[in-house]
Amino acid sequence: MRLDVITIFPDYLAPLDLSLIGKARRDGLIDLHVHDLREHAHDRHRTVDDTPYGGGAGMVMKPEPWGEALDELVGNGAEGQVPHLIIPGPGGIPFTQQTARDLATEPWLAFACGRYEGIDERVYEEAAARMPVSVISLGDYVLNGGEVAVLAMVEAIARLIPGVIGNEQSLVEESHEDGLLEYPVYTKPATWRGREVPEILLSGNHGAIAEWRHEQRLQRTAARRPDLLSD
Ligand code: ADE
Repeated sequence: MRLDVITIFPDYLAPLDLSLIGKARRDGLIDLHVHDLREHAHDRHRTVDDTPYGGGAGMVMKPEPWGEALDELVGNGAEGQVPHLIIPGPGGIPFTQQTARDLATEPWLAFACGRYEGIDERVYEEAAARMPVSVISLGDYVLNGGEVAVLAMVEAIARLIPGVIGNEQSLVEESHEDGLLEYPVYTKPATWRGREVPEILLSGNHGAIAEWRHEQRLQRTAARRPDLLSD
């Protein structure tokens, strides 16, 4: 999968060199490029923002650097190919495990990281005339910019690409894979600070263990995320 990220803080994306995502890059499963939006700002101060028309607080990202950055991105793709452009923002559709699954099947994703009060609306319109565009929110809270959201989304998406996670079975038994939260897990020692591992897990009875785990998932989901059960 090809991934491009456009940002005014390329260093923010450095963690994508680490751990399983870093390994996937080195193994050639992910072809990730981070681009500095300021390369497309041509004044002395490399300005990417300006005051909002109509007044109001804060600054808005100017359309010209974004237009140029997206032109360059599309221009260095293969003939006729365009990325699916993801613009993280608190006003987007919610990012869920299903979103991650859908995006993990795409050949080319590009992420546009906004800062300040957002990106001039015409950038969205112009991009949407040329490529699929999705505005996606990590949750109902406000971050300072899209970079942290991109780190989270890229991790959630990339780990679903075949070969990125060594043990694919671990993808199956996870929170949100079938609408329930994960059961509690334990490892050695069997007694720690006076606390015992649930006896059933030491029984060797795989049927009973599976049943216990399912019951734990239901209880935990009811306690922490009742909204998932009513769905
Ligand atoms: N940028 C700012 N807030 C955000 C959020 N909640 N999700 C995604 N991107 C954001």
